[in-house]
Amino acid sequence: MGLDGVVAASTRLSRVEGEAGQLTLAGYAVEDLAPHASFEEVAYLFLHGRLPERSECAGFARSLAQRRVLPDAAVELLGAAARRKVPVMDALRMAVPLLSMSGTDNPLDNAITAIAAFPSIVGTYWRLRNGECPAGVRTDLPHAAYYLHQLFGTEPSAEQARALETYLNTVCDHGLNASTFAARVIISTQSDLISAITGAVGALKGPLHGGAPGPALEMVFEIGKPERAEAVIRAKLDRGERIMGFGHRIYRVRDPRADVLNQAAQRFYASNGSRGLYDLARSVEQTALRLLHEYKPGRRLDTNVEFYTALLLHGLGLPAELFTPTFAAGRVLGWPAHCLEQLREGKLIRPQSTYAGPVGLSYFQP
Ligand code: COA
Repeated sequence: MGLDGVVAASTRLSRVEGEAGQLTLAGYAVEDLAPHASFEEVAYLFLHGRLPERSECAGFARSLAQRRVLPDAAVELLGAAARRKVPVMDALRMAVPLLSMSGTDNPLDNAITAIAAFPSIVGTYWRLRNGECPAGVRTDLPHAAYYLHQLFGTEPSAEQARALETYLNTVCDHGLNASTFAARVIISTQSDLISAITGAVGALKGPLHGGAPGPALEMVFEIGKPERAEAVIRAKLDRGERIMGFGHRIYRVRDPRADVLNQAAQRFYASNGSRGLYDLARSVEQTALRLLHEYKPGRRLDTNVEFYTALLLHGLGLPAELFTPTFAAGRVLGWPAHCLEQLREGKLIRPQSTYAGPVGLSYFQP
C-alpha cells in the first residue's frame, strides 16, 4: 500500500535514481544546474523544456517580476491570518487560491503567476505576522533576491541571493513526490492550475513530506562543540532515537542534493566569515555517519537533503518556521510544470482500491 514502487506517470522533468544517488533535472545533473543557473533559467527550462536564449530569459524574468503584486483579497486575507498568528504554511495554503483573482484561463500564464507570487505571499505574511509592514513589491530584483527582500525588507548581498537561488533550484522538483502527485491528480480532472497548486501546498504542509529540517540543526546546536558529537549522538542511538538529517526512503547512498547544498553552504559561510557553524556541522555529520554505520550495519544510512538545507537557510537568517515555506517557493516550479505535462497527456488519474469492509449486512436487521 502507499503506492510504493508503482509507476503512475511518465515525466521529462526529473529523474531520481536512489541506488546511484543521482538526480537529473530536465536533462541536467542537479550538481551541474542548481549552483550555476539562475532561478529564472530553471523555471523557463521546466515550463518550456529547454534553457532560454539570453533575450528569452530576460523577457521571462520581466514577466515573472510583473506578476509579483498580490490581489488585494490575498493581502487582506494575509492580514487576517496574521492577526490569528496561523502557521506560515497555513497562510500560504489559504492565499494561493486567491491568485485566481488575477488568473486567466491559460495554464502557462497561471503557472508564471503562481511562481512569481510565492515570495510575495510568504514575505508579506511573515512581516505582517511580526507586526511589520510588507516590504513592497520590487520588480528590479531577480527572483531569489526578491524572496529575501520580501522577508527582510532589505536587498540581500550577491552571496545571499546566490545561496538561496542554489537552494530553490536544488529542490524545484523530485520525481513523483506526494505534493507533485497531488497536483497531477487534481489537474488530471481538467481542473485549473491554481487548484492543483493549492492542493500541492496542502500536501507539502504535512511533516512526512515538507519535512522538518529544523531538528537537524537543533541537534548541531545541542552538540555545540565537535568533541561532544560522539557522546550526544551515541546517547541518542542508545535510546533508539533517529538522527535527524540522515536516511532517505529512496536514496540508499548520499542524497545528491545534500552535496550541492553542502557546497553552497561552505561557500556561503566562508563568504560571511562565520565558518564555525559550518565546520561544526561537518564534524557532526562525519560522526553521525560513522556511528550510524556502527549501530545500523548494512542499513546504508547517509546524509539527506534536510541536513544542509537547515544549515544553509539558517545562514541566510531564516528561522526554522520559514524552512518549509521556502521549500514550497522552490517546489512551486516543479508543480505547474508537472501540471502542464499532465494536461498534455490528457488522462484522468484514477487508481483503484481493494474493499476491506464487511459485505452482506442488512439495513433492516436489528
Ligand atoms: N537515525 C537512526 N536510525 C535510522 C535512521 C536515522 N536517521 N533512519 C533509519 N534508521 C534505521 C531505523 O531505525 C531502522 O533500523 P532497524 O531496522 O534496526 O529498526 C532502519 O534504519 C530502517 O528504517 P526505516 O524507517 O525502514 O527506513 P526508511 O528508509 O523507511 O526511512 C526515513 C526513511 C527518512 C523516514 C528515516 O531515515 C528517518 O526517519 N530519518 C530521520 C528523519 C529525517 O531526516 N527526515 C528527512 C528525510 S528527507
